Amino acid sequence: MELAEIEALVSKIKQDIECCECLKDLVDVKNEQLGKKSTFFSVALEGLNQMIRTAPIEEKKKLGALINKFKTDVLDCYNKKEIVLKEKLELEKLKEEEIDISLPGNDYSAGSKNPLFVIRDEIIKFFTSLGYDVYAGPEVENDHYNFELLNTPKDHPARDMQDSFYIDERTLLRTHTSPVQARTMLKNPNTPIKMIAPGKTYRRDDDDLTHSHQFMQIECLVVDEGINLAHLKSTLEKFMHHIFGMKRTIKFVPSYFPFTEPSFEVNVSCANCHGKGCNMCKGTGYIEVLGAGMVHPNVLRMCGYDDTRFSGFAFGVGVERLAMLRYGIDDIRRFYQNDVRFLKQFKEEFRK
Ligand code: PHE
Repeated sequence: MELAEIEALVSKIKQDIECCECLKDLVDVKNEQLGKKSTFFSVALEGLNQMIRTAPIEEKKKLGALINKFKTDVLDCYNKKEIVLKEKLELEKLKEEEIDISLPGNDYSAGSKNPLFVIRDEIIKFFTSLGYDVYAGPEVENDHYNFELLNTPKDHPARDMQDSFYIDERTLLRTHTSPVQARTMLKNPNTPIKMIAPGKTYRRDDDDLTHSHQFMQIECLVVDEGINLAHLKSTLEKFMHHIFGMKRTIKFVPSYFPFTEPSFEVNVSCANCHGKGCNMCKGTGYIEVLGAGMVHPNVLRMCGYDDTRFSGFAFGVGVERLAMLRYGIDDIRRFYQNDVRFLKQFKEEFRK
């Protein structure tokens, strides 16, 4: 075999390697031409070996170096090609997996903040701006805090109105946020308090248009020396006018709560008939919105206050009721259903 033939074979193998378009082609070339049983390369090397055997001594060295050069040339060529093809494959894969950010995204239709929380936050803002503190307490409550400390002992008929979900004989889901007030008073006896307690409350009510077994309340408590009914009345007037505007009339109607004495309810003139009487207000012209009164001396004493020095007022308001009256919402369950069609109606209102 002539040297030129061998060189031609080697460059043919290199050319074959260069022509490979993918890793599979390259492996085929390797198997066919570079392996032990392969043809071209071993033919070329065999040709060289033969030449060495017959060559004069000084030529043998040169030919040996040539064999090595051919081998490393072909191997280099192979390795370089392998790297190139691997990179190519990687790029192709990346291209396939590329995220097309030009596609339009999924349209999530936004509703608005729930009117219940809008009113809650507004009330919190109103009272904190007047210097009130905001407190929270447990929703799973002890009978002692929910009833006993609030002057409602076992078998008191007023418990019926707040019939609740009992976990065991002494533990229940709180029926109002008043226990938060009892807990706050007990923490710092004989200290002035100005607080509100917003939160979820539970009663075993049949769910209908205006009742839900779970609803939101905000209760307020002020205790200090010399607190009287005039403070309560003016606070409530300001609060109600803030929520409903100046056009609505406010009426105080005597009532009964075991934890306040005297007690009353606050009625607001009906938004629909302005006090004349219609279906919405059941002909009375007014709608009851909250319960209030002067803290009963028994409550003050049980919660660690000297009732000869301190007096206080308290009231509790159902937040759903306020939101329903303000926005004309006809069914209390709408607050909890998370229906965007309901929520969307408030988008503009809450932007103001
Ligand atoms: N805790 C009463 C209720 O949930 C509301 C209330 C609070 C009434 C404070 C008077 C004074 O019905």
